[in-house]
Amino acid sequence: MTKTRIIGTGSYLPLTILSNEHLSTIVDTNDEWIMERTGIKERRIATTETTSSMASAAALLALEDSKVLAEDIDLIIVATFTPDSSMPSVSCKVQGSIGAVHAVCFDLNAACSGFLFALTTAHAYISSGIYKNALIIGAEALSRAIDWTDRGTCVLFGDGAGAVVLSKDSVGFIGSLLGSDGGKGEVLTYSKQMTKNLFDKEIIENSYIQMDGQEVFKFAVRKVPENISQLLEQHHTNIGQIDHFILHQANKRIIQSVAKRLNADENKFPINLNYCGNTSAASIPILIDDLNRGGKLKKNDTLVLSGFGGGLTWGSCLLTW
Ligand code: ACO
Repeated sequence: MTKTRIIGTGSYLPLTILSNEHLSTIVDTNDEWIMERTGIKERRIATTETTSSMASAAALLALEDSKVLAEDIDLIIVATFTPDSSMPSVSCKVQGSIGAVHAVCFDLNAACSGFLFALTTAHAYISSGIYKNALIIGAEALSRAIDWTDRGTCVLFGDGAGAVVLSKDSVGFIGSLLGSDGGKGEVLTYSKQMTKNLFDKEIIENSYIQMDGQEVFKFAVRKVPENISQLLEQHHTNIGQIDHFILHQANKRIIQSVAKRLNADENKFPINLNYCGNTSAASIPILIDDLNRGGKLKKNDTLVLSGFGGGLTWGSCLLTW
């Protein structure tokens, strides 16, 4: 089977910064509580930006980095659960704005695990010979899905987008292991308000992100190490062989706990949630781009990408840089 490799990265963060100090003038919270419980210091908030505009900006930077022309992209997948419109999809809007005239476009929703699901999907298409060059984007405007009076959630999230170009190559994507458990979906929910139809008695009431924080925490610290261990075992790889563990940036304590449970060196778990907050499907590609542009990823480094989120969903990918 053909292999695939990430050959370019890009990201976009909104210009407006919301610090913990500023947040404490909006809800009853403080910098100390947020830093101690999450590691988040500030986050970016979309004001003039939309999910599509952020996704397009990240996509253009990834194309430039990859040296692939927009017209040579034949697949665009955007992972998001906060699209600015359901129709047209964010991916179609990106296609229009960057001029990727030959691309097939669709959005994919696996909440915070979305980028890993999209990367795996693109890999399957390219390795089976259907497409050659894919743009895979994680983009979220979570600030528009949050109850700004709920201090339990509004301190956690931020907006942004990250993108990668995936192409045919001799090495790169090694494998992935994804999972879902719809039976436990109620611990993390977001239902966009819909218009009533003729027969509906009531409309769905939950129109903000709602979360049972402690249940999500327990799920993440158990499932993420288990999932990574299983994936590595499938590919006869040891923890010590991994150069970078690029985890979904939800909470510093979750990342530290995963490192501990895997018996892995915590220095191999880069973090940018201190200035991005939790950007859901965008967090992993934004962090990859930070590392790539910062010169931290060397050719042939071995990477684990891993995340968890609403659905419930989770997943990990193993790849050579
Ligand atoms: N500022 C100050 N106090 C607060 C805040 C706040 N922002 N939020 C809650 N509190 C208070 C609570 O009211 C509670 O007060 P009480 O003891 O008087 O009742 C106290 O702090 C403790 O609240 P808990 O919810 O028990 O705090 P916990 O230690 O569990 O931390 C947190 C909460 C940070 C949300 C934690 O549970 C967590 O990180 N969970 C995982 C969340 C996560 O990863 N979400 C992302 C999900 S996936 C995705 O990315 C979409």
